[in-house]
Amino acid sequence: MPDNGAPVINYGLVGVYIADSKICKVDGTAGRLYYRGYSIDLLAKNSSYEEVCYLILYGHLPTNEELDSFKKKLIDARPLPDMVIDVIEEFAKKQDPMDTLRSAVSALSAYDNKMDDRTESANLDRGVNLISKMASIVATIGRYRRGGGYVQPDSSLSHAENLLYMMNGTKPSQKDAKLLDLMLILHAEHSSNASTFSTLVAGSTLADLYSAVTSGIAALKGPLHGGADEAALKMMKTIGDPDNTETYIDEALKGKNKIMGFGHRVYKTYDPRAMIIKNDLMSLQENESQEVKTLTAIALRAEKMMIDRLGKTHGIWPNIDFFAGPIYVSMGMSIEMFTPIFAASRIVGWCAHMIEYWKDNRIFRPLEYYSGPLDLQYVPVGERK
Ligand code: SDX
Repeated sequence: MPDNGAPVINYGLVGVYIADSKICKVDGTAGRLYYRGYSIDLLAKNSSYEEVCYLILYGHLPTNEELDSFKKKLIDARPLPDMVIDVIEEFAKKQDPMDTLRSAVSALSAYDNKMDDRTESANLDRGVNLISKMASIVATIGRYRRGGGYVQPDSSLSHAENLLYMMNGTKPSQKDAKLLDLMLILHAEHSSNASTFSTLVAGSTLADLYSAVTSGIAALKGPLHGGADEAALKMMKTIGDPDNTETYIDEALKGKNKIMGFGHRVYKTYDPRAMIIKNDLMSLQENESQEVKTLTAIALRAEKMMIDRLGKTHGIWPNIDFFAGPIYVSMGMSIEMFTPIFAASRIVGWCAHMIEYWKDNRIFRPLEYYSGPLDLQYVPVGERK
């Protein structure tokens, strides 16, 4: 307790545990990440987003039958209701796509005719529906922003393939589909990050799953969180020429500006997801456009400088958002769609944590230390100076 009687305040809840969970382990010291006990490296190499969603939601890797049945549920839930398409058409070109996403997801609850059923099984079904529809909504937002119209989903395509198909109106290359599937796996879940915590706070009042994940979408938008991938790419585009990298970073740091895509509340070493994305980006180079090659060269020089300057001494290393931009550019993804894609992946983490938390629910109500005046006299408005 500080001398003036004020309590110790954990700003940003640094170091505070808010729940006991079996979904995800983030080892910030060793730079390791596990979904339900499986390391992200193994899942990135062997799994698919559909299989990872099943693992995160239900707690075990599915059998063939379980996976086939889960994939069919996702496929059957892909089509969007007309009114949701209308919401997207109305807003897609007028606002940030994360705002349109928030409105479209909120609208989905109008089509849930079992809203009073809050059993775990009903919420798991809602989670499957949200995973499927978030991808269709994000794809449709991207499509309308480019002047296109709604594309009916294709039930023969995988989750990642169909997202790109509904976004671009053409079937994706195997390279792009595989890359997106990997990005969806890597962004799927990350313990009590800001957007998952926001989801839990909203749901801890026993609001419904749509309301809870809408809170998660709102929190993910910020550049300190999910919006960092877009901000990092904007920085790379501003740098423009690899030879400008060191000067740009040096001036930014001198101005006490944060370099987006670096630093993490938990990882005090290289974010394992960033390493996987970087390695994939490096393996792409040969057949890539000059734009991707230039962005990659800038990213590598910025990475080296930031690690030299702040990595070993301050624990500020690349995080998942840093190398994501050049990967999405290589798929032809518009920069403003990066964070919506993050949301289309993280929906499974939000739902899994919310369903787990509801098993032993406790409303979040932290304390705030009041340091203002007390017992002031009320002066009628006519007598105030
Ligand atoms: C994600 O939580 C998760 O798990 C999130 C995520 C997930 O999967 O859900 O991993 C996804 O959001 C990754 C992070 C994406 N955000 C960015 O890349 C934005 C840039 N990074 C920073 O804003 C920051 O590192 C945070 C927000 C990620 C972490 O913030 P903290 O833990 O509150 O740390 P801080 O802001 O208090 O920084 C501590 C010090 C400060 O210096 P001092 O004021 O003490 O002198 O480190 C400095 C900061 O200025 N610092 C940076 C920096 N990040 C921290 N300096 C320069 N560049 C940076 N990127």
